[in-house]
Amino acid sequence: MASEKKERASFSGRLGYVLATAGSAVGLGNIWRFPYLAAKYGGGIFILVYIILAATFGYTMIVTETALGRKTRKSPVGAFSFFTKKKMGAVGGWMNAVIPMIIVPYYSVIGGWVLRYFVEYVRGNGASLAEDTYFSGFIGNAAGSEIFFLIFAALNILVIGMGVNGGVERVSTVMMPSLIVLAVIVAVYSVTRPGALAGVHYIFVPDFSKFSIMTVVAAMGQMFYSLSIAMGILYTYGSYMKDDVDVESSSYQVVLVDSCVAILAALMIIPSVFAFSGADAAQNLQAGPSLLFITLPKVFASMAGGRIFGILFFLMVLFAALTSSISLLETSVSTLEDEAHMNRTGATVFMFAVMIVLGSLSSFGYNILSGARIVGMQFLDFFDFLSNSLMMPISAFTTCLLVLRAAGVRVVIDEVGKSSKFRMRKMYSLSIRYFAPVLLVIIFLSSVLSALGIISM
Ligand code: TRP
Repeated sequence: MASEKKERASFSGRLGYVLATAGSAVGLGNIWRFPYLAAKYGGGIFILVYIILAATFGYTMIVTETALGRKTRKSPVGAFSFFTKKKMGAVGGWMNAVIPMIIVPYYSVIGGWVLRYFVEYVRGNGASLAEDTYFSGFIGNAAGSEIFFLIFAALNILVIGMGVNGGVERVSTVMMPSLIVLAVIVAVYSVTRPGALAGVHYIFVPDFSKFSIMTVVAAMGQMFYSLSIAMGILYTYGSYMKDDVDVESSSYQVVLVDSCVAILAALMIIPSVFAFSGADAAQNLQAGPSLLFITLPKVFASMAGGRIFGILFFLMVLFAALTSSISLLETSVSTLEDEAHMNRTGATVFMFAVMIVLGSLSSFGYNILSGARIVGMQFLDFFDFLSNSLMMPISAFTTCLLVLRAAGVRVVIDEVGKSSKFRMRKMYSLSIRYFAPVLLVIIFLSSVLSALGIISM
């Protein structure tokens, strides 16, 4: 990244930091991924495990990455080599840097689905979106879904290429609160439908018989994804943070905002599965990545003014998705610039190619390549699994190692202490020394075993 002599731009104060970080954290992870995982992994028990993990482990990782970024004023690869010249350091830095490159292509496929739904609501086709077979028909059509993915990917590249990310971010500071308001309205509507209370019960009352190690694996992967941790983003954000911003409480605020949006999305979606899918409810809870797209159109179809809701909702989700994918892409591009010494145009073109290749595989996995399987998964699921369940635990582990073996826990504690008294110092230090590394090893091994089919998801 920037040479040490150059002044680094910085966020103006705590609110600026929290908004920017929450802006990158809130995205498809909260609105699309969290509800379908919660539905699939037993509802309340998944959400309980998620909250416990986010408040302890997630928070520990956010504090660590942010503090190391601020201390070194560098992005991940630079921050790692700041503390250690060993191979391990480079591996850790690169592991962090490659993950966004794997996520952004399939993220754009989902972004394309959102775009399609937005366009259809604008065209007044809400009623056909609500039909049971619409979604499978759409993703089953190779050309139809590929086009929307390509448009979404191209939008990202355009924004990055023209350097107008700042503009998109400004728009999204309006979109984000509006999305939350709209989501509250839809959630209230959805939980008050006849039959929906069973869904509320499903979300809030944990059924401990549904607990398994895979609940923890899935919740942990989701936590990495949703909080944008274990991929170096927060090192970069930290490097822009002023020294007087309170790392501890701003980290908690990010976790809080992000988790609230996720739970809100679950409240919009899961109760409506119970209210609208009748006898198919149990089966629809297992729908996976398609859940949002098959349930919400039914909700909007039953609402007065449903078309307007459909347009607004998918527009706002589109913005949340765009800001996240742009920030994933920007990270990838700047890593390639700084560490692979590409120029900006070269790095942008390279990433566009990566997006097209990996994204098309994910998109075609639902149609012409639907027979193809990697370790039993179709492409999109595989890339999701590879990044969230395999690479992120390793990358988070390298951050733990960096703290424990090279930088020292003190460095983080002192960095946080620069701006405010570090109230959770004891808990932090236990967590980074024991809780986090042990959990990460368990998660990683469970993921490998499940990919090999030795334990089941
Ligand atoms: N957290 C984002 C979401 O919930 C996705 C994401 C993961 C992300 N890593 C990121 C966004 C890095 C921006 C930057 O959708």
